[in-house]
Amino acid sequence: MSQSKPRVLVTREVFDETLDYLRQHCEVVDNQRDVPYAPEALGKALADCDGLMCALTDKVDPALLAAAPKLKSVANIAVGYNNIDVPACTARGVMATNTPGVLDDSTADLAWTLMLGTARRITEVERRIRNGEWTGWQLKQWLGVDVHHATLGIVGMGRIGQAIARRAFGFEMKVIYHNRKPIAPELERKCNAAYVSFDELLAQSDFIVLQVPYSPQTHHLIGTAQLAKMKRSAILINSTRGGVVDDAALIDVLKKGGIRGAGLDVYENEPKLNPEFLKLDNVVLAPHVGSSTEATRKAMAMLAAQNLVAALQGKLPPNLINPEARR
Ligand code: DGY
Repeated sequence: MSQSKPRVLVTREVFDETLDYLRQHCEVVDNQRDVPYAPEALGKALADCDGLMCALTDKVDPALLAAAPKLKSVANIAVGYNNIDVPACTARGVMATNTPGVLDDSTADLAWTLMLGTARRITEVERRIRNGEWTGWQLKQWLGVDVHHATLGIVGMGRIGQAIARRAFGFEMKVIYHNRKPIAPELERKCNAAYVSFDELLAQSDFIVLQVPYSPQTHHLIGTAQLAKMKRSAILINSTRGGVVDDAALIDVLKKGGIRGAGLDVYENEPKLNPEFLKLDNVVLAPHVGSSTEATRKAMAMLAAQNLVAALQGKLPPNLINPEARR
């Protein structure tokens, strides 16, 4: 007698190849129209499901878990998983997984895009061309700052932070970093990076890139006090998660010229970013596209699907966040 396949819900549009793979192993409820589920509708849709493949736009909290009594695993299509209440999953024996590794280089590239774009005012000058403001070459026209030979400070030296640091080599930058603890000396050598205190990093860096995960501990890690410790010429890059920066404090400082500029891919309450950002010329704004290349998003979705299938087959998912939940 053939065993019935586990039932899984995929909350957002994914690639055809992801669905094809999932369908080999599961009965799949997809959402290729990509209309995000409201929390209550998500609970209803999940009532008879064994697995959930979700995105950072879905909140997996105790209320949702209570609505899904059969749920065995949650596979996030993201490396960050602050949308998932992991202890609540563990308490219910629900395995939670994420997608580390496959997005490191693309996310590092985007952090660099923001650094270079902010330093050379690239979105501002493009706006000026489009507005017909460019009437000819001038020596002092829309001057930027150099990235090469500057000091890069990286806050959060995990895989993505290290990929950002390695890219600094060609720019002959001095690289300093702060992390919960120093990385292994061998990795420091590969990154050509030196560990400093958080305050030293704030005071010495020309470019500060944030790459820490969002958590209650990193909420508003950068606020008024930290911004005040930065050089007036500093550029701040947030390519990790909204909430790590106090956006209102950042806007205030940018307006006063307290730092030179900011390159942002993530925001508090995104996608409803603070409208004051839109009025500032010294910010480069991107809409949470850090990992958004075709190859990387395909790899993330496939890894999430593989995590989910492994968990539902009783195997150890490659990227299990809460091993205690495995029964
Ligand atoms: C991640 O993987 O955490 C990214 O922010 C998703 O794009």
